[in-house]
Amino acid sequence: MKGFATKAIHGSLLKPEAHGSLRPPVYDSVAFEFSDSRQIQLAFEGRKPAHAYSRITNPTVDELEQRVRLLADAFGVVAVSSGMAAISNAILTLAEAGTNIVTTRWIFGNTYSLFEHTLKPWGLESRYVDMTDEKALADAIDDKTRAIFLEVITNPQMQVADIDHIVAIAHEHGVPVVLDGTVTTPYLFRSRDHGVDLEVISSTKYISGGATSMGGLILDNGLFDWKKNPKLAPYAKQYGPGALIAALRHEVYRNVGACQSPHNASLQILGLETLSLRIDKSSANAISLAKWLEKQPQVKVVNYPWLESSPYYARAKHLFPHGVGGILTFDLASHDTCFAFQDALRLIRRATNINDNKTLIIHPSSTIFCEFSEEQKAAMGVSDSMLRLSVGIEDEEDLIEDLQRGLVAL
Ligand SMILES: Cc1ncc(COP(=O)(O)O)c(C=O)c1O
Repeated sequence: MKGFATKAIHGSLLKPEAHGSLRPPVYDSVAFEFSDSRQIQLAFEGRKPAHAYSRITNPTVDELEQRVRLLADAFGVVAVSSGMAAISNAILTLAEAGTNIVTTRWIFGNTYSLFEHTLKPWGLESRYVDMTDEKALADAIDDKTRAIFLEVITNPQMQVADIDHIVAIAHEHGVPVVLDGTVTTPYLFRSRDHGVDLEVISSTKYISGGATSMGGLILDNGLFDWKKNPKLAPYAKQYGPGALIAALRHEVYRNVGACQSPHNASLQILGLETLSLRIDKSSANAISLAKWLEKQPQVKVVNYPWLESSPYYARAKHLFPHGVGGILTFDLASHDTCFAFQDALRLIRRATNINDNKTLIIHPSSTIFCEFSEEQKAAMGVSDSMLRLSVGIEDEEDLIEDLQRGLVAL
C-alpha cells in the first residue's frame, strides 16, 4: 500500500472485527474489563497495553490515531477533542512556568489568545517574531526556549514561512518545531519530510469530512531527541523516543481530559477516507476563484500562495507541490463594502469554519479577531477590509456566479 487514498481507506490496524464489519465499530464504552486483578494492575502500570478507561485510550480513537500515523509516517499520534486541545496539550507537555516559546502574531486568533490570555498568567512567555525574519527568530531563542510554534500557511494572512530554514535554526539551538498543519493535513504537506518535530492539526476542518465533528491531532514525527527537553528528560529515560507520547498519556492528556469521543473518531475515520478527493477539489476551486477575483476591479488584493502575484508563490510551489488547500483572503474597499458583499451572497454561507464541503465566508476583523484592539489587529495582519473565503467542493461556476452577485451589490 503506497498511495495516500489507499492507505486512508484500507489502512486499518485494528484487531480483526468479530462480525467482519467493514467500518470500524464505535466502542461506545467508558471502561473496559479485565480477566483478573493482575491484568488490571499491569495495565495501570503501563506494562501491558490495554484499554482501561476512555479518557486515556479507546479502541475507536486508537483506530483514528493509527490511520493518521500511517498516513503521515509519524512515530506516534494522540487524538484530542479539538484543534485548540491539540495545541494546548502539546505546549503544556513541552513547556512550563519560567520558560518560553517563540512564535508569531500571525496565527489563528484563539491560538494567540491561548498564549497571551491563558498561558501567560501561568508563567509561560510567548515571544513574537516575524517568521520570515530568520535573524529575529534566531535572536529570540535562548536556553529557556521550549518550542518554536508556527502555522504551515497562516490563517488569515496566508503567509508561507521557509519551514525548512526555520527547522534548521530551531535544531541548531536544540529546540523542537511545533507546526499547526490544519489547513494542509498530511495530504498536502508531509511535515516529517521537512524535519518538523511535532504537528498539531484541527481535524474539525478537512479531516472531519464536511464539518461533522470536532477533533484534534498531535503527531510526533519521531525526529526530536526528547532528552534535550528538561521536562521530558525523565520520560526519555524510561520511554526513549516515545517520551512525548508517554508524557501526554501519563500526564497532560490524561489529566487535562480533552479526550476525543469515539463517535467523533468514527466520523473522522470516515472523513479521512475521502480527504484527498475533497482537498483536490477545494484546492482546484480555490485557485480558479483566486484568479477570477484578481481580475475584478473592486477587489484590491487576493492572498493565495499559489497565485503568481503572491510573495510566497515559489516557496509554496516547493513546499506544497500538490496544492495549497481551500482558503484565500481578499480585500475590498472598506469594512462596509465587505459587509455589503457578504450580505448579497446566496450560496456561500456566512460562518466561521474552514475546510467544510460548503464554501464559507467571514469578515475576520469583526468576528474571530473582534476581541483585539485596532493596533493588535494591525500587528496580527488582519485588516478591516479583508474577507476570508474557505472554498468548498461545489461546482466552480456556481461559486463564481455567487461572488459576481456580491460584487454587483457594491
Ligand atoms: C489554523 C487553526 N488551528 C487551530 C484551530 C482550532 O481548531 P478547533 O476549532 O478544532 O479547536 C483553528 C480553527 O479555526 C485553525 O484555523
